[in-house]
Amino acid sequence: MHKPPILILGIESSCDDTGSSIVYNGKVLSNIIANQSVHEAFGGVVPELASRAHQQNIVPVVSESLKKAGIDKKELSAVAFTRGPGLLGSLLVGSSFAKSFALALEIPLIEVNHMQAHVLAHFIEEDGQKKPEFPFLCLTVSGGHTQILKVSDYFKMEILGETSDDAAGEAFDKVAKILGLPYPGGPLIDKYGATGNPFKYNFPKANVPELNFSFSGLKTAFMYFIRDEIKKEPDFIQNNLADICASIQRVIVDTLMSKMEKAVETTRIKTVCLAGGVSANSALRKAILRKQESSEWKVFIPKFEYCTDNAAMIAIAGYYKYLNKDFADQSITPMPRYLF
Ligand code: KG4
Ligand code: ZN
Repeated sequence: MHKPPILILGIESSCDDTGSSIVYNGKVLSNIIANQSVHEAFGGVVPELASRAHQQNIVPVVSESLKKAGIDKKELSAVAFTRGPGLLGSLLVGSSFAKSFALALEIPLIEVNHMQAHVLAHFIEEDGQKKPEFPFLCLTVSGGHTQILKVSDYFKMEILGETSDDAAGEAFDKVAKILGLPYPGGPLIDKYGATGNPFKYNFPKANVPELNFSFSGLKTAFMYFIRDEIKKEPDFIQNNLADICASIQRVIVDTLMSKMEKAVETTRIKTVCLAGGVSANSALRKAILRKQESSEWKVFIPKFEYCTDNAAMIAIAGYYKYLNKDFADQSITPMPRYLF
């Protein structure tokens, strides 16, 4: 059957990346992202600096995404934007832009939940790439969230477990900060840990009931460990960086994996997906793919660029909402704590 062309502009501005993407009937035509280096020196995102950078970036990033896709803004079917969760100042920039763009073009406006969009990144049309079948489990691990979801349909998601304090990405970032690495430290822990011994050091795993997580104790234990080792050997970090990174990465990945194993056991759902920035972690990807080889798990991991924050996932979520005619009106406001 011939599908009518649906062109969605997706805008992402929940944290420190300004993203704009054009999706044509589920296929990505462009996916532009402007990262903000301004936060590197601070060990975390500075909200006021983030919103100012979004203001500077939003117009060039949207223009670039239209240019790269080879389309004119008048051809767009709808504008989708991240309503939350995220930083209020950052969300305000993307939502204000999306609202005025939709109003000026007289096309529908679509609000998207950032966490649902991470999951829906699995439905981006890619040649030769299979999509997960409902119901499936999704481990959504980002800088702000750690959730195990049961996904029964595109917008029917139930939280089976989540973190009570730090998110997995935050744990990576805080550990990296203790090591003196710049923000975001997760990719650097991954990089330096690649050549290290993951069993050289051990760190305590939090004993949290059911499918929930806690990572704040790990960060504190790590901080005391480093402090004590430096007392004995001032160059301890420099001399053992690869082993330290590999060991802390193993503990975080083991924690995530054991909860996913428990989730599969209790729900008997064996289709398991990864989403969110931490799904770019090579040890986590390896661990979950190993599980696919040794058990009946069917594992799905989005392409690298659709794991970390991006606007293509907002546009694909917008595409499915467009098919449902689920539109927002101009009175809509951002929701920094947007639950679903
Ligand atoms: O989903 P995301 O891009 O933004 C949020 O919604 O938070 O996730 C960012 C998080 C950061 O904490 C970053 O350190 C982490 O994902 N991250 C990684 C890796 N790549 C990104 N953590 C570990 N290993 C990586 N390779
Ligand atoms: Zn995210």
